[in-house]
Amino acid sequence: MKAIAVNGSPRKTWNTAILLEHALAGTAKKGAETELVHLYDHDFKGCVSCFACKKIGGKSYGRCAVNDGLTPILEKAAGADILLLGTPVYFGSETGEMRSFLERLLFPFLTYTPDYASIFPGRLRIGLVYTMNIPEQSLHSFGYDKTFAATQRTLSRIFGNCELLLSTDTYQFSDYSEYLSTCFDAEAKKKRREDVFPEDCRRAFELGEKLAAAAKG
Ligand SMILES: Cc1cc2nc3c(=O)[nH]c(=O)nc-3n(C[C@H](O)[C@H](O)[C@H](O)COP(=O)(O)O)c2cc1C
Repeated sequence: MKAIAVNGSPRKTWNTAILLEHALAGTAKKGAETELVHLYDHDFKGCVSCFACKKIGGKSYGRCAVNDGLTPILEKAAGADILLLGTPVYFGSETGEMRSFLERLLFPFLTYTPDYASIFPGRLRIGLVYTMNIPEQSLHSFGYDKTFAATQRTLSRIFGNCELLLSTDTYQFSDYSEYLSTCFDAEAKKKRREDVFPEDCRRAFELGEKLAAAAKG
C-alpha cells in the first residue's frame, strides 16, 4: 500500500507540511509506504489545454501529454493507494501550484461525455487538507466552505471519494513582532498554536489511518 502526500505550500516545515506528515504517519501505522512531495521543488505548468488527453485514438488519451517536472509526480499520485493533498489558502483558494497540479491530475480522467464520467482506472483514497489564517467561525461568511466543497466535489467526481480536513487560525510567523501584522493578536495566535494545532495534527493522523484502513478494504 502506497501513500503519497503533495504539499502545495512553498514552506516545507510549516502548517500544511506538518499536517501532511501526521496524515502520512497515520497511513504508515496501517502499513503504508509513504512519500511527501513538495510541489514548489518542481518546475511545472498547469494544463495547457492541448486536449491530447481527450483525442480519440491518440497516444496520450486519458493521460497528461505535457512532459515537465510534474510528470513523474502525476504518475506516482495516480498509481498510489492514498493521495493526501495539502494546501494553504491563498486569497480564498488553493495555492496556484496546487491548482496547476489538480488541473493536470484531474482533467485527463474527466471525459466530455453527457455525464462527465471519470475514466480514472485505479482505486485512490483522497484526503484534502486546507490550512488558513481565518478563524473557523468566518469560514461561511468568507465563502470558503463553498470553495472547499467545490474542490471536494470535483475530486469525488473523479476518484469516487474525498475526505476534507481544515486547520484554521494558523500561526504564520515564528515572531509576529518582526512583521507588520497589527490585525492579529499575536498572543492569541501563539496560544492557539500550542493548544489547538496539536489537535489538528491528531485529526490529520486519524485521517491517514482512516484512508489506509479503507484502502486495505
Ligand atoms: C500569499 C498569501 C495569501 C494568503 N491568503 C489567505 C487567505 O485568503 N485566507 C486565509 O485565511 N489565509 C490566507 N493566507 C494565510 C495562509 O493560508 C496560512 O498562514 C497557512 O496556514 C499557511 O500555510 P503554511 O504554513 O503551510 O505555509 C495567505 C498567505 C499568503 C502567503
